[in-house]
Amino acid sequence: VTRIAPRETEFVRDLRGPNRFLVARSAFTSDTVLEAEKERVFSACWIYVGHESEIPEPGDFVAREVAGRPVLFTRNREGRCRVLLNSCSHRGAEVCRKRRGNQRRFRCFYHSWSFSNDGELVSMPDEDGFPEGFRKQDHGLATPHAVDSYRGFVFATFNPAQEPLLDYLAEARFYLDLTADQAPEAGMAVTPGTHEYSMRSNWKLLAENSSDGYHAIPVHKTYLDVQRSKGDQIAGSTEKDWKQSHAFDLGNGHTVTVKQAPWGRPIARWKPSMGESTRDTVERSYRKLELAHGPERAELIANLDFNMLIFPNLVINNIMAVIIRTFYPTAPGHMNVSAWSLAPSDEPPDARRVRNESFLSFLGPAGLATPDDNEALESCQRGYAARRGEGWNDVSRGMDKADPPNWDELQMRTFWRRWDELMGGKA
Ligand code: FES
Ligand code: FE
Repeated sequence: VTRIAPRETEFVRDLRGPNRFLVARSAFTSDTVLEAEKERVFSACWIYVGHESEIPEPGDFVAREVAGRPVLFTRNREGRCRVLLNSCSHRGAEVCRKRRGNQRRFRCFYHSWSFSNDGELVSMPDEDGFPEGFRKQDHGLATPHAVDSYRGFVFATFNPAQEPLLDYLAEARFYLDLTADQAPEAGMAVTPGTHEYSMRSNWKLLAENSSDGYHAIPVHKTYLDVQRSKGDQIAGSTEKDWKQSHAFDLGNGHTVTVKQAPWGRPIARWKPSMGESTRDTVERSYRKLELAHGPERAELIANLDFNMLIFPNLVINNIMAVIIRTFYPTAPGHMNVSAWSLAPSDEPPDARRVRNESFLSFLGPAGLATPDDNEALESCQRGYAARRGEGWNDVSRGMDKADPPNWDELQMRTFWRRWDELMGGKA
C-alpha cells in the first residue's frame, strides 16, 4: 500500500493560519488513489451491510455488494443475522444468484456444493471422491472479520484490528437513536423496494454533498418552488434561515448537519402539501412519541432534521422521509448507489403515502432533487478534466468562525481529515 500511494503526494492541505482548506482534484481522478482507498478505507472501516428488518424471518436473505464484495445477508435458523461472502469455497462461483428470498441452503450452480444459510458446507456430489483428510467443516463460506449491529443497522469489517462497532460509531449513535426511536412500539423497518443507480462522479463527491447545505438553494430551487406551490411556507429556504443549521464532528470522520425541520415530516410535523386528510394521523404520531419519550425528546425526534454521514459511505438523511444511502466506486469517476426508505412499521397508510411521495419526489433518482444533485456532482467530475485532475478544491468556508461553527464546510473538513489520516497523509 505504501508503494501504491507514495506520501510525497499531498492530497489535503489543512492550513489553519491563513484559513484555507484545500483538497487536491487528483484525489477524485486518480486510479492510484482509488486502489489505495479500497485497501485503507473500505477494507479497514466498519461498512454498512443492511437493516435487520430486511430479513425478518429465519431463512430470509438478500444478496448485495458491501465494499465491492459480493455478500449474502442472511438470517439463520436461530434468528441471528449473518454476513457470508458469496463465493464458493470450491472454485469461487457465487453460491447464490438471486437478489433475495428465503431458503435454508445455497447450492452453487457450478458443481453443486451446498451450504447452509449459516455458511457451513453441507453436502456435495461424490463426497467419497475427495482425498482422505478433506473435512467439510474446513470449507464453509468465508465471512468478514466481524459483524455487529446498532439499533437494527448491521455493519461488517474486514479489518482484524478494527475497534468495536460501538466505539467506531462514536457520537453518531446519538443520531441513530433519534432515527430508531421514531417508532416506539413497532420499530423502524425498511420499506419494500430499493433505489439503485450509478453516477459518473467520484464517490467522495457524494460523501461531501450529502451534508452540504450551501448548494441547497441554488440546486434545489425546482423542488422548493413545487412545495411552495402546494401551499407550504418553507421556513429554512432562504439564506438567512438556512444559516441556523449547524454542523458537528461526531468522531472517526462521521459528521452531521442539523436544523429545525422546515419540511413536513410524517412522524410529527404536518404541512399543507401533505393534504388536509393526513393532519390527524400526523398529530396522533406526535402524541405517541410524547407518550413514549416525554415532551422534550419527542420534540427532538420529531422536528430535528439531520443529514448524517457515517464514514466512509453510509448516509442517513432524516428529513422529510428517512433514507439510508450507501455507495461504492467502480472507477475514480463512477460509483454505484443504493438507497432505502426507513419507516415506522406500524405507520398508517396515509402517512406512508406522504412518506413514499417524499422518498420518490425529493430523494429518489427520478425525483425533483436527487437528479439535480447528481448533475452537480457529474459536472464537477467533468470539470476536473479541464486541468487533467490538477488543481485544488476549496473547502474553507466558515473556517474562521469560532462559535458556533454553523452552516459552513466543517462537515466536509471532518470527512477529509479522517480520509487523509487513513490514507497516510500528514495534513
Ligand atoms: Fe461452487 Fe464448484 S465452484 S461447486
Ligand atoms: Fe442536494
